[in-house]
Amino acid sequence: MIEVQHVSKTYARGVYALRDLSLHIGKGDFVFLTGPSGAGKSTLLRLLLRRDVPSEGQLIVGGRNLAELTPRQVQAYRRSIGFVFQDFKLLQKKTLLENVAFVPRVLGLGASQQQRRTFQVLKWVGLQHRMSAYPRELSGGEQQRVAIARAIVNDPLIILADEPTGNLDPDLSLEIMNLFREINARGTTVVVATHDRELIRRVGRRSLTLDHGEIVETT
Ligand SMILES: Nc1ncnc2c1ncn2[C@@H]1O[C@H](COP(=O)(O)OP(=O)(O)OP(=O)(O)O)[C@@H](O)[C@H]1O
Ligand SMILES: [Mg+2]
Repeated sequence: MIEVQHVSKTYARGVYALRDLSLHIGKGDFVFLTGPSGAGKSTLLRLLLRRDVPSEGQLIVGGRNLAELTPRQVQAYRRSIGFVFQDFKLLQKKTLLENVAFVPRVLGLGASQQQRRTFQVLKWVGLQHRMSAYPRELSGGEQQRVAIARAIVNDPLIILADEPTGNLDPDLSLEIMNLFREINARGTTVVVATHDRELIRRVGRRSLTLDHGEIVETT
């Protein structure tokens, strides 16, 4: 599903965010990316979402070489991926329902289908009773669950999540991870970046440890 081949990413002043990185993530895998701050986790996720391009090497996702996509294909590609990034915030002036329904509307589903699917995912993350609440009326963990609902509402083949449990307590973090496990059990490939090693241990899935842009450990 995801092939990363000899990928390097350098920024100005010769900082290597990723250095000759190669890895394979199969369809239906659940993989953690971990490692210290600055290791390159977010950089890799940004490249996989095609928000940025590598300095060297190739990324092949679902058989498509991300370097060869036209701008229009990039847009369609991004919509085919569910992502939970810290800087991708909920719309504060919209209710939960509107925040989640916003995605299918973008994709042009019919109104009734859209509504059914939106109810379904909000129920699934346990927030159907809060559908008309606004993000500011929710706890941090509830907001994270809305972000996950929004990421899965179009049944993506891949979910990319960058520190989805940042700022959450251990129990809530595990709850969020259980949602990802359920998504994964339905066949979705899940890639989660986190520095929380204890969480990885509790979830018990494969992990790739990055340091200075290189894989230093795989479990
Ligand atoms: N836009 C940028 N310009 C210059 N350097 C950058 C830029 N983005 C990231 N870097 C550098 O690339 C390296 C990898 O950063 P990245 O954000 O991928 O790390 P990370 O593993 O996600 O860290 P954290 O755990 O703190 O989120 C760091 O040295 C960082 O300073
Ligand atoms: Mg990061």
